[in-house]
Amino acid sequence: MNKIVLLENIHPNARAHLASFGLTNVVQIPAALAGAELLAALSDADAVGIRSRTHMTAEVLSALPNLKTIGCFCIGTNQVNLAEAAMHGVPVFNAPYSNTRSVAELVIAQAILLLRRIPEKNARAHRGVWDKNAQGAFEVRNKVIGIIGYGNIGAQVGILAESVGMRVVYFDPENKLPLGNAMPVFSLQALLEQADIVTLHVPGLRSTENIMNAERIAQMKPSAVLLNASRGNVVDIDALDRALRDKKLAGAAIDVFPVEPSSEKEPFVSPLLDLDNVILTPHIGGSTEEAQENIGLEVADKLARFLLAGTTKSSVNFPEVAHQDKGALSRILHVHRNEPGVIARMNQQFAQFGLNIVAQQLQTRGALGYAVTDVDGLIPQPLIDVLQKDPATIRCRLI
Ligand code: NAI
Repeated sequence: MNKIVLLENIHPNARAHLASFGLTNVVQIPAALAGAELLAALSDADAVGIRSRTHMTAEVLSALPNLKTIGCFCIGTNQVNLAEAAMHGVPVFNAPYSNTRSVAELVIAQAILLLRRIPEKNARAHRGVWDKNAQGAFEVRNKVIGIIGYGNIGAQVGILAESVGMRVVYFDPENKLPLGNAMPVFSLQALLEQADIVTLHVPGLRSTENIMNAERIAQMKPSAVLLNASRGNVVDIDALDRALRDKKLAGAAIDVFPVEPSSEKEPFVSPLLDLDNVILTPHIGGSTEEAQENIGLEVADKLARFLLAGTTKSSVNFPEVAHQDKGALSRILHVHRNEPGVIARMNQQFAQFGLNIVAQQLQTRGALGYAVTDVDGLIPQPLIDVLQKDPATIRCRLI
């Protein structure tokens, strides 16, 4: 039976979910491991689950020929040498959508709090000041929320915003299906000029660096608020600081920063610290118990589907083959170099052994090809030996 090693205190629901697929040979180790300890723990593992502190380097991958897949129970995958894993025939999975709802909920809460000027009222109340003034405090109903980046999180924010009565406009360079009553706008300026709440949900790319610079911030209404729970480098923090101090903006909520402390021990430094109309949070947009639970389920699911059916949908480094129920007696997973003639040679071998192909899915990604083939019969060992000897074969597995 497939052996799965889960490191770094992965949520217990991962183990339960694996068991629901019949994958019960699971070893849980609370710590992150490295060096000889890591190799010893994984020497006979078919799959490993890690978070951010276990590093799956080229050396580690080369020393683990039995390892078939890696699950990163988190969003980031920098801790894995993805290219090297792919060339060992090892797909890597993560959990990109587990915390989408958590971020979206925080954004809606921040929008409501900022429009009601709660951060300032709260700060004054803590200082013993009883400020009941309603001036500058607004409902969010009928206000325009401008979403920059209408991807997974941006679209989710739009749905939630609409449910509390906001009007939704969004700007995205890609043509995105508007959900609910959301309306696309075709320039950032058009969005900034009409929005009461501007919220950023773009990826951290060179093209999105400082997209909210002094010039863009000046295009916002002075009564508007700016929210950033995407990446720290998409807002020019000094320009934002100036706009807030000059009363060119009513408030801001910032969850991500150009420089973030690596732990609680390091101080958090920002020019915005003394501004009462700014909500500052330590990159916790996606940090909820539910997100952790979702991560456990999402990644365990992907590991199980790969181990049991060869599915690689949503892998971060591998050709993506969608789930398909096994349509015949045997399924063979074949990872190969993406060269002409590989599939023809493989299929010829099936024919020579008298095996009829019932279904075949092939996907390629860069230098890698991945074929999942169902055949109507038992695959004999000599056939596997022949396929393994093919000069283009990287890995060949029967399930
Ligand atoms: P996504 O990839 O689904 O969506 C990003 C969208 O931005 C895409 O639709 C893309 O076309 C669009 N986009 C790209 N360049 C753009 C530009 N110049 N202007 C406008 N739109 C542009 O990503 P997802 O999952 O929605 O994540 C969004 C951001 O949120 C990412 O930066 C991610 O790192 C961050 N994030 C932050 C968390 C937190 O704890 N604060 C937690 C999870 C994600």
